[in-house]
Amino acid sequence: MYGRRLVTIEEIIALVSPDSDEELAQLKGWASNHEIPVHPIQVGEDINPVFSKETEYLGVTLGGDGTYLEGVRQFSPKEIPILGVNSGTLAFLASISPTELTDALDEVIQGNAKVDKRQQLEVRANDVHCTGINDVMIEHIPPENPVDRKITRLQVFADEEFVGEYEGSGLAIATPTGSTGVSLSAFGPIHYPKNNGSIQVVPLHTHRMGVRPLILDASTTVNVVSHKAASLLVDGGRAHTELSPDDVVTIEGSDTPALVITTSFDDDFFTSVSEKLGWSVREDRHDTGKQHLIKNKNDNAERDFISHSLEIAAEAARTAGQPLRELHGQTELIEFKTDKSDIVTEADYKADNIITTVINNEFPDHTIRSEESEEITGESKYTWLIDPLDGTGNFAHGNPNYSISIALLEDDRPIMGIVYAPETDELFSAVEGEPAQMNGNKLSTTNRQSLDECMLLSGYDPDGEFLSHCYRETRGVRRVGSAALNLCYLASGSADAVWEYDTYPWDVAAGVVIAKAAGATITNASGGAYQLLSKGTSRNELIGTNGVIHETLLSHLEDEQNLQKSENNATD
Ligand code: IPD
Ligand code: CA
Ligand code: CA
Repeated sequence: MYGRRLVTIEEIIALVSPDSDEELAQLKGWASNHEIPVHPIQVGEDINPVFSKETEYLGVTLGGDGTYLEGVRQFSPKEIPILGVNSGTLAFLASISPTELTDALDEVIQGNAKVDKRQQLEVRANDVHCTGINDVMIEHIPPENPVDRKITRLQVFADEEFVGEYEGSGLAIATPTGSTGVSLSAFGPIHYPKNNGSIQVVPLHTHRMGVRPLILDASTTVNVVSHKAASLLVDGGRAHTELSPDDVVTIEGSDTPALVITTSFDDDFFTSVSEKLGWSVREDRHDTGKQHLIKNKNDNAERDFISHSLEIAAEAARTAGQPLRELHGQTELIEFKTDKSDIVTEADYKADNIITTVINNEFPDHTIRSEESEEITGESKYTWLIDPLDGTGNFAHGNPNYSISIALLEDDRPIMGIVYAPETDELFSAVEGEPAQMNGNKLSTTNRQSLDECMLLSGYDPDGEFLSHCYRETRGVRRVGSAALNLCYLASGSADAVWEYDTYPWDVAAGVVIAKAAGATITNASGGAYQLLSKGTSRNELIGTNGVIHETLLSHLEDEQNLQKSENNATD
């Protein structure tokens, strides 16, 4: 899902090994065609001088696995996703070959690559405090006289618990990514490395038949105490020290994952393991396996277009939710549009850029109308109506009630909608004619019949009219500050009715689909059909209820308005 965010990459930092000049030239050529600046940094130099917190980077390594590991060390703490290009030598981690480089980069900036989180280890011992993506080796130092004892004893603790004392030449403590290295050759298990948070402890040259590798959750603190002097190597020596007897090594899952990019040019993990390691469980069956895969892919291709569009909208919203969460609560530059309450922030534009680019890449012939950007006009009958940040006022004041609203219209009829609330990670969604959902759970409106039992939500209420007309007759009137969320709360039953004085089409298009699918009745203020003015920027009044109280609420509002008129006439 994070891969979609790559569409907003602004600059590239390339970590370059010696002898990668050709690959660097190729990268620079591609980047200049796309107007993306490249900062080449030689391996061994620091990326800090070219790094700025405000910029979205892609990290590219040009070299072998050594360069890639150096990239992981420098890019991961800065949350920069890494693409590894293998410019020559045999490499397991740097997987893109120079001939695939530009196609892989195209895939990355179109948001079609994937970004997987790889667990790292945090290691502390003596003067070493570092992270590693592969493994930590604690090994007995070979004696000068070859006939002397060649094994050591290492005590292992998992959190506070004593695991035991391992006798042998040492221990390999590996991440899932490192599981196919040293620990595999010592009969450790292979771990699927993507989004897998675990640590494995594999004994080396143990003399006891019963001793087996141990797998622990990444939240476990592993302490290892060496009986004798030992050497400690992290990621094949990227950090190392010599341990004295009784020194303690502490190893934990790091909070900083490596963000590893995979493209369609990468072999899938098990193919790669099979081919590179001569894994003998797939011979002759490889084709059969592939056929299953192809069948699944065809099934997926047959999936209905609307549910595919819902998936893309949900991915785009979740991806845009990430920078919104990061910026929420920070003081931001606010621009005023029409008046002091009509504002737009940097966050609105960031979310807009992600959502419109993801949708445009996926559906290039669709029209896209977003509150914050110029219309993209397409040939097809489908139009996307987007509010990248509904509730900007709340957002800018650190209030968590804001959302992202994305609707798909066929001609002018909204047929699919999603509303995502980043702070609560609630994804409301519906396809016309199917049940509404929130994070996979079915939604339905309330069935309250009497106004005095009902909770109402109002939008912008300039004269306090709705509040004064309904406050005493109901359990209350709340103003949340996001029209899209109001309609989702009607759908999920935490409100029985919603009133909007004047909303833009992008405020409500998705919410209307969701609320209707959950059983709501939506009309204009006089009870007539609600018209979504999908073209242009006109505003519209809207009343939505659980359906049961619709007529009651409309006639109550009419009575109140009539009463008000006669009171006004009497005072005139
Ligand atoms: C606003 C919010 C607000 C509603 C306004 C909208 P914005 O949208 O939905 O609740 O009352 O009419 O314009 O400006 O935050 O996207
Ligand atoms: Ca809005
Ligand atoms: Ca908005």
